Amino acid sequence: MNENTTALVTGANKGIGYEIAAGLGTLGWSIGVGARDDRRREAAVEKLRAAGVDAFGVPLDVTDDVSVTAAAKLVEEHAGRLDVLVNNAGVTGGMDQLPTTANIETVRTAVETNVYGVIRVTNAMLPLLRRSASPRIVNMSSSVGSLTRQSTPGAETGPIAVAYAPSKTFLNAVTVQYAKELRDTNILINAGCPGFCATDLNGFRGVRTPEQGAAIALHLATLPDDGPTGGFFEDDGVVPW
Ligand SMILES: NC(=O)c1ccc[n+]([C@@H]2O[C@H](COP(=O)([O-])OP(=O)(O)OC[C@H]3O[C@@H](n4cnc5c(N)ncnc54)[C@H](OP(=O)(O)O)[C@@H]3O)[C@@H](O)[C@H]2O)c1
Repeated sequence: MNENTTALVTGANKGIGYEIAAGLGTLGWSIGVGARDDRRREAAVEKLRAAGVDAFGVPLDVTDDVSVTAAAKLVEEHAGRLDVLVNNAGVTGGMDQLPTTANIETVRTAVETNVYGVIRVTNAMLPLLRRSASPRIVNMSSSVGSLTRQSTPGAETGPIAVAYAPSKTFLNAVTVQYAKELRDTNILINAGCPGFCATDLNGFRGVRTPEQGAAIALHLATLPDDGPTGGFFEDDGVVPW
């Protein structure tokens, strides 16, 4: 059994996921760089290693059962267990997000990656997480999934988005269900919002850096054993459901 803390970050080849991998790597942890594209994954692993991170590549498409099963096998062979899973991979689903005109495939794509992908990866990794002394699961959500904020006049919740925003609401609800089932275990599972960060996801229109966005994931990945579970957090504290 590997004595180092091992983390897996999905969608770690760029954006916030890359910065989560880099940030957890500075703790001296071994970091699985989950990414679906071979070239982008290898480039990220090389860059992380050049920065002193103990990074290893994990081929991983969160929408693909075969890929996710193989990823769990790879992590098991590499480390024997998993201490931290960061479900970061995410997509908007497509450009037209107006409820009255959007293609149903746009909604399906967002949910397939942002929700089903998280469930698929989490369940594949759970046997490895259960071997850890302090397992943590972090689901990268978004405050645009907050129904409270969406229904609060004047609250900043981004553009109308029938696929992306509800997919994060769904993810938050799924996070709560996991926390309920896992309440009597040592696994802490929480959702985090990185804030509006400049990444490919939004055409780099975000006002925060991906590194700033990674901070909430680093916080939730390193919670003490008596830390919260089943919550939704941003840098400033709790995000209302
Ligand atoms: N940026 C923001 O302002 C913001 C705000 C709130 C929440 N978030 C959330 O933060 C997370 C990271 O977003 P980001 O802004 O860093 O976006 P990004 O730069 O577009 O990165 C998304 C990552 O997810 C990966 N990915 C997408 N589909 C995948 C799949 N099927 N299997 C595996 N990996 C997949 C992408 O890989 P490829 O390179 O192969 O496409 C990429 O590595 C997402 O969950 C997003 O919803 C972002």
